Amino acid sequence: MNILGIESSCDETAAAIIEDGHILKSNIVASSMDLHREFGGVVPEIAARSHIEEINPVIKNALTQANMTWEDIDAIAVTMGPGLGGSLLVGVLTARTLARVKNKPLIGVNHVIAHMFASFIDETNLENYKINHAQPHFPLLALIVSGGHTQLMLFNSPDKYKIIGRTTDDAVGEAYDKVAKILGLPYPGGPSVEKLAEAGDAYKYKLPKAKTEKINDFSYSGIKTAVLRLAQTEIGQDFSFPSYKLANALSEAQKTNIAAVFNRVAVEYLVDKTLSAYNQFAPKSVVVAGGVSASPQLRKQLTDALPIEPHFPDPKLCTDNAAMIATAAFYSQRIADPLSLEADPSLGRN
Ligand code: KG4
Ligand code: ZN
Repeated sequence: MNILGIESSCDETAAAIIEDGHILKSNIVASSMDLHREFGGVVPEIAARSHIEEINPVIKNALTQANMTWEDIDAIAVTMGPGLGGSLLVGVLTARTLARVKNKPLIGVNHVIAHMFASFIDETNLENYKINHAQPHFPLLALIVSGGHTQLMLFNSPDKYKIIGRTTDDAVGEAYDKVAKILGLPYPGGPSVEKLAEAGDAYKYKLPKAKTEKINDFSYSGIKTAVLRLAQTEIGQDFSFPSYKLANALSEAQKTNIAAVFNRVAVEYLVDKTLSAYNQFAPKSVVVAGGVSASPQLRKQLTDALPIEPHFPDPKLCTDNAAMIATAAFYSQRIADPLSLEADPSLGRN
């Protein structure tokens, strides 16, 4: 069974084909990231316009890369939320139209849940993918860490899951993006902070790990403010010094050390929480997913800390893609009505 996945929830327009819920046949991603960089974050209107331009060629390329025609496609899966309203709408309306015109079943998918399913892709003929792990087993613990989400989930089966902890304020990816801004590094913050951190002294300063009321919850707003205060103090200024002037005032050594300490503490916090949840629930597998799971620091610390080997998707399947959407759809098989499937920007938040 071949499922064509379509993803457009944020700044990536993506289409991919997955065979039998685990074989990657094609994976095409067009990102409008470069257009957002000068604004330091995703601009919803620019993202939506870019999806409109990219979505048809991206779907066509996914068929070509898989060496398939519409005849070979058994179902169409699309991200219905959560995400940016205008962006989601482009994917959902395209998928609805294609489902009608090509006469294929349509499956609506939750983007956050889908990140977890990237770890179920265990085979491909495509070049440049490192997919060498076995599939995870249920019950499994999932740490989902991205620009918009930081949560721990327990999956008893592919469609029986619950959120056991989530961020009470910022997502970890957001904290990386904000720290990058303070240090004058390009968006997205994760990779640029991580790169600068390599040369720094990760124990030069102290940063806080927030206590939360519920043991499995996260909070990243405190560490973000602590980085701001640390930077202001380091240049001998008080807390009224504007954050946008910090990048020019800090020395290279100060920036490098702040990046290294933040990178270590932000990841340690994720690892502490994941290890604690592992001890509470004793899952058979641990799966890490979402953009931040591309982080080598997180991969190393978590592998060292856990008694079992965690599952990390290929980095190209960690950030937003449509292969995970098609895989999640294979497991849910929840058929939607192509005349009425709605985009839901806050799906799963209530
Ligand atoms: O999952 P994703 O592509 O989009 C959302 O659904 O949010 O995640 C994007 C986030 C960004 O905040 C980016 O800074 C972060 O993932 N990220 C990383 C790395 N690569 C991407 N964070 C830390 N280390 C990385 N190597
Ligand atoms: Zn995502």
